[in-house]
Amino acid sequence: MNPFDLSGKTILVTGASSGIGRQTAISLASMGATAVITGRDEGRLKETFGQLGGTGHSYVAADLSGESGMDALAAAAPQLNGMAYCAGAVEYHPLKFLKRDKLETLFHINSFAPTLLTGKLARAKKLERGASLVFVSSIASESGVPGTLAYASSKAALNAAVRVIASELAPQGIRANVICPGIVQTPMNVTADRATDLAEAAKRYPLGPGQPEDVANAVIFHLSDASRWLTGNIMILDGGHTLI
Ligand SMILES: NC(=O)c1ccc[n+]([C@@H]2O[C@H](COP(=O)([O-])OP(=O)(O)OC[C@H]3O[C@@H](n4cnc5c(N)ncnc54)[C@H](OP(=O)(O)O)[C@@H]3O)[C@@H](O)[C@H]2O)c1
Repeated sequence: MNPFDLSGKTILVTGASSGIGRQTAISLASMGATAVITGRDEGRLKETFGQLGGTGHSYVAADLSGESGMDALAAAAPQLNGMAYCAGAVEYHPLKFLKRDKLETLFHINSFAPTLLTGKLARAKKLERGASLVFVSSIASESGVPGTLAYASSKAALNAAVRVIASELAPQGIRANVICPGIVQTPMNVTADRATDLAEAAKRYPLGPGQPEDVANAVIFHLSDASRWLTGNIMILDGGHTLI
């Protein structure tokens, strides 16, 4: 028996058109899950779809920053045994230059969408008893790096919300947990203008920067029966970054 086996589980993966979400969808499918993948960019979503092993997968293009996208996704979703919420965005604004619209943009996708979408799925009774929800946050939520106010606070709000989701849904046997990765090599941060920053940041990672597979493997654990006694937890996944 493999405690990490996901056969028979249908899992919604947001942010599946890129980076961590894409790898998560591919890894979940390789562990036997049926994936329902979503993202905004339909072309890149289809690329991910083409990389999923097994059968029965589906995709729904949706912008989760507004009610209509979340409603459409909640309506299209089949009965779910889990969700990997990997959608997210980052922007850097020093406090003196931070404007309300920038703050709202990041809160919409990093905090409001994961919590409101979960509420909509629960209300529509799309979450099966025993379902597991895992939300990708960030170690930024636990630190105070200059320029990250909008991102860090949107992720900290997510962490707090997931603890409440965990206690509200526990009576239905539904679990909710957070993964806080450190720097992972994805399109979010592997850009020419951030290359020097990243090389510098990598020096502060005893095990080096993470790969999307590292986060996907942690998601597999959270969605599988191996973690059936774990809820309301925040996992720091950072190659030892917070040790030094
Ligand atoms: N990479 C890192 O170093 C790192 C570290 C810690 C935490 N994280 C977190 O990990 C998660 C995944 O990041 P990543 O590195 O994989 O980033 P990425 O490659 O930029 O992917 C972000 C994903 O989020 C989706 N997304 C963004 N805005 C959306 C919206 N309004 N509606 C629906 N989907 C939306 C994107 O969809 P489209 O491309 O289709 O628009 C894309 O699939 C994020 O929550 C991020 O904060 C990343």
